[in-house]
Amino acid sequence: MAILEIKKAGDPVLKQVAEPIERLTKRHRQLLDDMAETMYSADGVGLAAPQVGKSLRIVVIDVQDEHGLLELVNPVITMREGSVVDSEGCLSVPQVYGDVERAERVTVEYTDRRSRRRTLTAEGLLARCIQHECDHLEGHLYLDRLDRKNRAKAMKELRAQG
Ligand code: NI
Repeated sequence: MAILEIKKAGDPVLKQVAEPIERLTKRHRQLLDDMAETMYSADGVGLAAPQVGKSLRIVVIDVQDEHGLLELVNPVITMREGSVVDSEGCLSVPQVYGDVERAERVTVEYTDRRSRRRTLTAEGLLARCIQHECDHLEGHLYLDRLDRKNRAKAMKELRAQG
């Protein structure tokens, strides 16, 4: 296992649409392990492969609930229901937070590390995290979803970090 460098806002890899995994190999499983270790060491609840410089549709999530560590390969959100605004942050945008509107409940279909197709319905923090990480795979940061006022505030805080 290895701790990977987390790319920060402004890195072009975060703007790319990530590539699907055609066939899961040992190399992808290694990436899943490294991403989980990187996420835990940064005290994060989710990490998408583009954040460690790999433009691949791979996500790890652990919101410290009964699901434990979730490893999502090629995740697709197939249902969104309700709407809720809450504070959100991102390991690629350190120490900056903003209020983002997200669906309250989502269903996500994905492949696990053993190439089994799975379906998960989630709400609360897990639902928010799934949407946030899936956004990364489309080249979007949560900053893109802030309203104008909050976006300006977040960008100012980001610039202040240098
Ligand atoms: Ni993020």
